[in-house]
Amino acid sequence: MAAAARTASRAFLRSTPATSSFRPAARSTRALLPTQVRASTRRGYASEAGKGGSSSIAIWAGLLGLGGAGAYFYLNGEKTPKGPFEATQADYQKVYDEIAARLANETDYDDGSYGPVLVRLAWHASGTYDKETNTGGSNGSTMRFAPESDHGANAGLKLARDFLEPVKAKFPWITYSDLWTLAGSAAIQELGGPQVPWRPGREDKDVAACTPDGRLPDAAKDHRHIRDVFIRMGFDDREMVALIGAHALGRAHKDRSGFDGPWDFSPTVFSNEFFRLLVEEKWNQRKWEGPTQFTDKGTSTLMMLPTDMALIKDKGFKQHVERYAKDNDAFFKEFSDVYVKLLELGVPFQSKPEDRFVFKPSE
Ligand code: HEM
Repeated sequence: MAAAARTASRAFLRSTPATSSFRPAARSTRALLPTQVRASTRRGYASEAGKGGSSSIAIWAGLLGLGGAGAYFYLNGEKTPKGPFEATQADYQKVYDEIAARLANETDYDDGSYGPVLVRLAWHASGTYDKETNTGGSNGSTMRFAPESDHGANAGLKLARDFLEPVKAKFPWITYSDLWTLAGSAAIQELGGPQVPWRPGREDKDVAACTPDGRLPDAAKDHRHIRDVFIRMGFDDREMVALIGAHALGRAHKDRSGFDGPWDFSPTVFSNEFFRLLVEEKWNQRKWEGPTQFTDKGTSTLMMLPTDMALIKDKGFKQHVERYAKDNDAFFKEFSDVYVKLLELGVPFQSKPEDRFVFKPSE
């Protein structure tokens, strides 16, 4: 089903004339075929991580308790501790490669890629940040626990967390908070988006650090709400618009948010299509039983949320929507900068921004 939808979507992309209102952004073949072309590199996952048996699990558990934050003790063939081990860029690249391989192999999500829901997991883990109290943010990965996992805004994100469990099992030294944000960076790159430099340094916290419900935005609201929520995190108008451009990816689900449908015709390709369609299409309120959302006049198959429409109703936001609609390069650059900032909110790094890693995407 998902494969069929993906094929149809790509057939559409190939057949759509450049003059059509729905033409996709110019993309490389690699970007248009993010999952198909790499489906041959199948690997093993959780089963491999368990090869050492229960004794190695016990050792790992003990070492993780001692090490934390990416530092752990290396075990040689005899399984004896051999001095402290700091994970290097090469180690994190292996984590990236594993996520990329899973994205290529596990195609049973919606339009054929788990990438969109990984981007959303990293955003919801980070978007709880409050700059006044310096609470929330990606440092802690408290969405592992109820009540935060049960917050309405996080509906559906268990699928993303579960998708990453085999990666955590294979690389037990990485914290969940580093893993989830690294996965957000990887998903953007693997779906044909810009480089998203990333650095480690997040620690997992316990349930006591869960943030209160209501810190993430409510899609039924207007421009004032968008500003309230994103100013609390420390973003300006331009950054807010760039971030919401991630709605080029994925879709809304009736059984999660109540909203329904994709924002564009290529929901597994990162591009400025969200902005182009927002500006060039005519959007009507959808007539249905569900919450207020908007649908494109041309095909009635796409959707916009009330908060998305607020981006063209508000002058301060609209100037950036129009700019990104015309200039994909500007969108890529500014999105990358602001997504990096989002993923780092409230993290007490020991490293400097120039120490960030740029991961090599899969072939
Ligand atoms: C005003 C701000 C925002 C609102 C109100 C909002 C709301 C929503 C809603 C209602 C959904 C549908 C969830 C579902 O039913 O599965 C969604 C999906 C999504 N959002 Fe946002 N969002 C906002 C900002 C962002 C930002 C800043 C990002 C990333 C940088 C993002 C990335 C995504 C992605 C990738 C999906 C698709 C997920 C999937 O396909 O499973 N959103 N958003």
